[in-house]
Amino acid sequence: TTQTEIYRPLYHFSPKNGWMNDPNGLIYIEGEYHLFFQHYPDSTVWGPMHWGHATSKDLIHWEEQPIALYPDSLGYIFSGSAVYDSSNSSGLGTSETPPIVAIFTYHDMEGERSGASDYQKQGIAYSLDKGKTWEKYEGNPVLPNQGVRDFRDPKVRKMTQADGTESWVMTLAAKDQVQFYRSLDLKNWSLLGEFGKGVGAHGGVWECPDLLSMKAPDGTDKWVLLVSINPGGPQKGSATQYFIGDFQDGQFVPDDTMIRWLDYGPDNYAGVTWSNLPEEQNRTLFIGWMSNWLYAQVVPTSSWRSSLTLPRILELVDINGTLLLKSKPASELINLRKETYSISKNESELPGIATEIQASVNSEDQFNITFYNELGEELAINKENGLVTIDRSKAGKGSFHEDFNAMHSAPMSWKAEEIRIFLDASSVELFVNEGELVLTSLVFPSSPWSRMKINFGLNDLVVYSLQD
Ligand code: FRU
Repeated sequence: TTQTEIYRPLYHFSPKNGWMNDPNGLIYIEGEYHLFFQHYPDSTVWGPMHWGHATSKDLIHWEEQPIALYPDSLGYIFSGSAVYDSSNSSGLGTSETPPIVAIFTYHDMEGERSGASDYQKQGIAYSLDKGKTWEKYEGNPVLPNQGVRDFRDPKVRKMTQADGTESWVMTLAAKDQVQFYRSLDLKNWSLLGEFGKGVGAHGGVWECPDLLSMKAPDGTDKWVLLVSINPGGPQKGSATQYFIGDFQDGQFVPDDTMIRWLDYGPDNYAGVTWSNLPEEQNRTLFIGWMSNWLYAQVVPTSSWRSSLTLPRILELVDINGTLLLKSKPASELINLRKETYSISKNESELPGIATEIQASVNSEDQFNITFYNELGEELAINKENGLVTIDRSKAGKGSFHEDFNAMHSAPMSWKAEEIRIFLDASSVELFVNEGELVLTSLVFPSSPWSRMKINFGLNDLVVYSLQD
């Protein structure tokens, strides 16, 4: 970490060089987590999109790999997903060597410039060496565009129909709604249904959907639909909403019309879940892009831009009769812990840049903790009067965008029992009650947070230094 990389995260994934946005093609293959990402290696701002690639055996240490997909004559490679085609339904591999298939959006920049409306279409690529190298399918595109300007971010999953037949279902963002398509071979797709007109938040375009099968706490089967939206999030700019309901015969029917947000912080966008996890993991594993289109391209990093959130486990939780999606820090994160400090004083030093803080909230259900440095900059986190807030308005650099130095609050009408806070070189993630409420926020202190102060409301404080 050089002087110019003071904001390089120590335990969050960031690309070695250049620009990154959405996580793509999340898939687990034989003991390895694969992570692809929207990447422009030649600049620190958005441009011709590639799929960058990184792998991890433990979900916390990532190794960047050679670029997986380069733009070609059909266009830039936009966001998408990856599946393990175990029965070689696509014919792109063999039964001995089934292919891993990536499904992504081609974005034809020339088409967009020339005013066409069909410049986004879906293509596929496959790997026969466990995700190392990729071939594009020569019959691309597999899903052409019928004239919808925003037509992208295919997320494909395997589904078993009522009669037992297996098929692939694609959830696709189409401007102000999502569309569901079915295929038997990942090459021929037919439209099943649409969802979203007049439902949910519509302050911006819908992007990066994901359709998840989950159990409610009472054991009922539910479907959860993640939809990122930009702009129109609760903190301005980008954010991810979700719907809870039923999915049958290609139709998604929400239980209610409530608007729900996955994360109330400003900096968790375009997140999706891993495919092909071993059944014994029995979890829905999520990661998001830790930024916001409002200012993503001007944050004060040097040779690289953007990082991803911590990996999180999504679960349904019943809060006084309302189902919500909680985001728990993945259990692997405890393996980052090095030293443990039990703190009984109100003011103490922080052990380093990579730090986790855990505490219980007292019966008053109000708390206030601040992190600060010797320059007088401070990052304040509190719950007061039913609002959980991260205040980064006096937390360092922010003049690069008028909306950055701000306070971000989330309503929490139920009791906060405990909190976990993860600090890294340029981020803070707050999990209340194991993720019943989450705020993720970038923050650029001019010098690292060196001390913290509990103003009130927190007990049983434990601080962990994390590996760097
Ligand atoms: C979301 C997004 C996607 C698109 C990609 C382009 O952040 O706009 O909809 O595929 O980024 O990089």
